[in-house]
Amino acid sequence: MSVELPMNPAESEDENDEKGLTRGSFVKVAIGGMCVGYAGIIGYPIYRYLNSPVEKSAAMAAVSEVALKDADKLPLGTAMMFRFGPHPSMLIHHKDGSWVALDAVCTHLACTVQYHPEEDAIVCACHGGRYDSKTGENVSGPPPKPLTKFVAKVSPGSVVVTRA
Ligand code: FES
Repeated sequence: MSVELPMNPAESEDENDEKGLTRGSFVKVAIGGMCVGYAGIIGYPIYRYLNSPVEKSAAMAAVSEVALKDADKLPLGTAMMFRFGPHPSMLIHHKDGSWVALDAVCTHLACTVQYHPEEDAIVCACHGGRYDSKTGENVSGPPPKPLTKFVAKVSPGSVVVTRA
């Protein structure tokens, strides 16, 4: 059995040129593809990191009012969660009849906080942060700032929450 080898390697390259692909052009295309892939792998997380807070704050600023249908029927001493723009938020109907609406994003590391009616406190399960359920003030644990407080206006059939 014998194998025919081209006498001149350039002849072989020319034959491939006629087919439209040479080893050199294949390597260039492969390197170009890898460069584009690496740029995407490195660039996309950087893009998301830089743009995400801007997008979120813009979306948050775009929403100035939320109407919560039938929220006026919320029983005393309970709370409900709702979205104010991109943020989870909570509406609390206190036992004394007062209404409080607060941003439910913990000011420590942005976990969602919960209302604990048995303690009448807002608690963050991530690191034990606690907030006053009427004012949103941070009272213990790692949260550095109070929760943002909204204005809640109760009317028959709904509660309208707006920025203070
Ligand atoms: S994220 Fe809430 S206490 Fe850390």
